[in-house]
Amino acid sequence: MPTYKLLLLPGDGIGPEVMAEVKRLLGFLSKTGVADFETEEGLVGGCCYDAHGVAVTEETMTKAHAADAVIFGAVGGPKWDKVPFDARPEAGLLRLRKDLGLFANIRPAIVYPALADASSLKRDVVEGLDIIILRELTGGVYFGEPKTITDLGNGQKRAIDTQVYDTYEIERIARVGLELARKRRNKVTSMEKRNVMKTGVLWHEVVDQVHAREYRDVQLEHMLADAGGMQLVRWPKQFDVIVTDNLFGDMLSDVAAMLTGSLGMLPSASLGEIDPKSRRRKALYEPVHGSAPDIAGKGMANPIAMLASFGMAMRYSFNMGKEADLIDAAIAAALAKGLRTADIKSPGATVVSTAEMGAAIVGEMEKLAS
Ligand code: IPM
Ligand code: MG
Repeated sequence: MPTYKLLLLPGDGIGPEVMAEVKRLLGFLSKTGVADFETEEGLVGGCCYDAHGVAVTEETMTKAHAADAVIFGAVGGPKWDKVPFDARPEAGLLRLRKDLGLFANIRPAIVYPALADASSLKRDVVEGLDIIILRELTGGVYFGEPKTITDLGNGQKRAIDTQVYDTYEIERIARVGLELARKRRNKVTSMEKRNVMKTGVLWHEVVDQVHAREYRDVQLEHMLADAGGMQLVRWPKQFDVIVTDNLFGDMLSDVAAMLTGSLGMLPSASLGEIDPKSRRRKALYEPVHGSAPDIAGKGMANPIAMLASFGMAMRYSFNMGKEADLIDAAIAAALAKGLRTADIKSPGATVVSTAEMGAAIVGEMEKLAS
């Protein structure tokens, strides 16, 4: 039985509650002999700031580098609104992404049949939806320098963020998108703002070049990011893989999440470059939703995005596609039975707690596996 090293970082708010359901799933996987997971746990975000005065410690960073995969909950909350910018909870997540080189963020938006009515859009617009937002995750305005607020001395301040992309950063994310598309419906839509931004001009040019050199068999289209946002809610099924920069990807993936009915449904995988020697890549898996401080500790959170994120770890880090399919099928089965957490509740459905939903999904896995 293969052994994998996992670093679990539950974080803040509902993070620990949804992570508890991953632990339940891990217990099931170990029991059935699929794989043995060696787990370590660490603090990240606000809880780490409270304990250590930083959003992530060096010790946790070392463990993250050594792990086969990092499983991440969520960070942040109003409690830490006033902490210094460099120690804010989100800084822990951003450091993990940057230091581990996790440049490719895969955010699938899939509408489960049972949930087509939970979306704020009409059923026929979202039914059967299966798209991927591929977000560049280690560049752009999130990390560009200078990033400052300067006092101009005349009662005015000036804030600067810098959007910056080099050719290689665009090339490698374009390749990931084009590769993903080849295994799907073979279509990539690249989104930027080349009508306003120089980074958009370069993005467009480089994506075109990579496509022309290596991926002529894939259908490539370009869309301005604002129009892309509009098309996402108008007719999302026109897309297969959307590849875009860090900031647009952040916004567009929240929009895409809502197509599926709730932010509580969308998982994500953040992947680094494949090491040519070991053939392994660093990876972090996290739900797209945040820490939801308003419902934290109430047992109301939807664990599906977190469990599906672990499913993505099975697929992308451990080469266990069959088990990943099983997790997805178990989620669909629990939903088909009418079980709903509060965020996706609908007339006639049974509203269940975080733990009840987790237990139901693992229960469905047991049934499907036997
Ligand atoms: C996300 C989140 C993060 C981001 C925050 C928590 C820093 O919104 O993963 O989408 O902006 O990347
Ligand atoms: Mg976001």
